[in-house]
Amino acid sequence: MARTICVTGGAGFIGSHLVDRLLGRGERVVVVDDFDDFYDPAEKRARLAGHAGHPALAVVEADIRDAAAMEAVFARHRPEIVVHLAARAGVRPSLADPALYTDVNVTGTAVLLEAARTHGVRRFVFGSSSSVYGIATKVPFAEDAPLVHPASPYAASKIAGEALVRTFAHLYGMEAICLRFFTVYGPRQRPDLAIRKFAERILRDEPIELYGDGSSSRDYTYVDDIVDGVEAALDVPLGRVEIVNLGGAHPVRLSELVERIEAVLGRKARIVRRADQPGDVPRTFADVSRAAALLGYRPRVELDTGLARFAAWLTARAGHETKPR
Ligand SMILES: NC(=O)c1ccc[n+]([C@@H]2O[C@H](COP(=O)([O-])OP(=O)(O)OC[C@H]3O[C@@H](n4cnc5c(N)ncnc54)[C@H](O)[C@@H]3O)[C@@H](O)[C@H]2O)c1
Repeated sequence: MARTICVTGGAGFIGSHLVDRLLGRGERVVVVDDFDDFYDPAEKRARLAGHAGHPALAVVEADIRDAAAMEAVFARHRPEIVVHLAARAGVRPSLADPALYTDVNVTGTAVLLEAARTHGVRRFVFGSSSSVYGIATKVPFAEDAPLVHPASPYAASKIAGEALVRTFAHLYGMEAICLRFFTVYGPRQRPDLAIRKFAERILRDEPIELYGDGSSSRDYTYVDDIVDGVEAALDVPLGRVEIVNLGGAHPVRLSELVERIEAVLGRKARIVRRADQPGDVPRTFADVSRAAALLGYRPRVELDTGLARFAAWLTARAGHETKPR
């Protein structure tokens, strides 16, 4: 009999790809998502619309901070595994509302963990972030690096979330794994993230703002690679709490990213330079050796391939033309 997997944030960018994968392999899925207005909720609803009426999918519209609602979800659906992706995401907006980020990402995680342990959930998979490494100087980032310099409330909230997951695993013997995602991109990407923001503006012939001198770099990871890692994390034997990077392992400078987006869209960007933004970190770069050893993880989609798939999705969605002018 198929098992039940609860995916919080299942209407989100990454969550919806995971839901597709899980339903495709015959799992029962319970999505918990409050369709918040961080960006257009209609975009979130559209991601799940293709599964409307699917007998193995339940969508519960609820806030993870609502303990009574979570209790009801777990009592009714009895998931064996929780993949916790619901969060206020995004570095820069967390500076504007640190209390909200802390509330959703920390309190929400605690509420969920408590419901999970009360109802005997076997495994808890936590969607963490490369931002926990903060202003780390030692690259590539390895999981045992000390997390002493978070650069934003968002980063701090993910460190706290990981700490709670470790605590529950310690106290109650829950199997747990924290997956640190590195800048995820691909079809359905969040509208606030750089690749989508740049591409949409370039297609509308609007200028794009580049912060810093273009030398900052990010380890971009295609969403299918992330979903491969999450999928593997559902089933690998776990003897203790595991912390695992899921990255592309090929950092790209911001200036080069823009050139590659231009190439894939066949259009030139109009660039406006701005000073570095508080909260941003100079680089991210994943050491994926632990992911390879534990999860058999190997990032497969190179940036140009991933950008082409992303651009195909974006242009189909927006009805834009990508022909060079
Ligand atoms: N996209 C990335 O590059 C990236 C990188 C590192 C980590 N992450 C983490 O991965 C997870 C998914 O990110 P994403 O990019 O898909 O973001 P997303 O915003 O598209 O998805 C998050 C989902 O959580 C839901 N949500 C937010 N607050 C909620 C609440 N209180 N109760 C219930 N649902 C709530 C939102 O409605 C949304 O559908 C997040 O935890 C994020 O921090 C993402």
